[in-house]
Amino acid sequence: MLLAPSLLAADFGHLAAAVTTLRTPGAADWLHCDVMDGVFVPNISFGLPIVQAIHAAAGPLPLDVHLMIQDPGRYVEAFAEAGAASLTVHYGACPHLHRVVQQIKKAGCRAGVALNPHTPVALLADIVADLDVVLVMSVNPGFGGQQFIDHTYRKVAQARALIVSSGSSARLQVDGGVGEGNIARLAEAGADVFVAGSSVFGTPDPVATCHRLRAAAEDGAKMRPKAIPSL
Ligand code: DX5
Ligand code: ZN
Repeated sequence: MLLAPSLLAADFGHLAAAVTTLRTPGAADWLHCDVMDGVFVPNISFGLPIVQAIHAAAGPLPLDVHLMIQDPGRYVEAFAEAGAASLTVHYGACPHLHRVVQQIKKAGCRAGVALNPHTPVALLADIVADLDVVLVMSVNPGFGGQQFIDHTYRKVAQARALIVSSGSSARLQVDGGVGEGNIARLAEAGADVFVAGSSVFGTPDPVATCHRLRAAAEDGAKMRPKAIPSL
């Protein structure tokens, strides 16, 4: 179970301090960086120079860069050079998704593909074996602090079934509205990487919150059914 706190919910005036906090042992496994272009999503967050600055502060923590941008292939090499360990692009932002996934791997990063809440899991059938990360969005991308969409549990189970049936080694990540109230059930459904923004930074002690979130995820994973249904 990996926890990927989203820096979108951090105080941007003290970003390095937020990263330092998350470097506390047992806090973050990956640092989730939400890049938004104001085109693919209706919001603009930050770009390359900020990712570079996060990388400079991150030490050994891998940067999990979530590209909510149109035609992300234009920027793959630049984000790899800025320090991304994984690059996740959106299914709906890439007319040539297979090419972009190969491009990400060639750039030396883990390759992830994100599905918006309306995008069926089955659309990944011909690409999942090439992926390192499948990201199921549990909110419509663009903003932190939104309400978790309930059909995500079913979708996570479907994504887990697809990963298993295709022999993929992809991790299964969930992003949006994740917190102490739903992380165990998401782990039980098959997720193994959890993005959490406001549920981490909205608490007085983000490190203690990370510990509780991970413990809840571990408990949930123990409840997984042995037989995983196929799609
Ligand atoms: C939403 C982003 C998320 C966001 C999650 O578009 O992709 O990573 O930061 O924030 P919370 O956890 O507050 O929903
Ligand atoms: Zn994200």
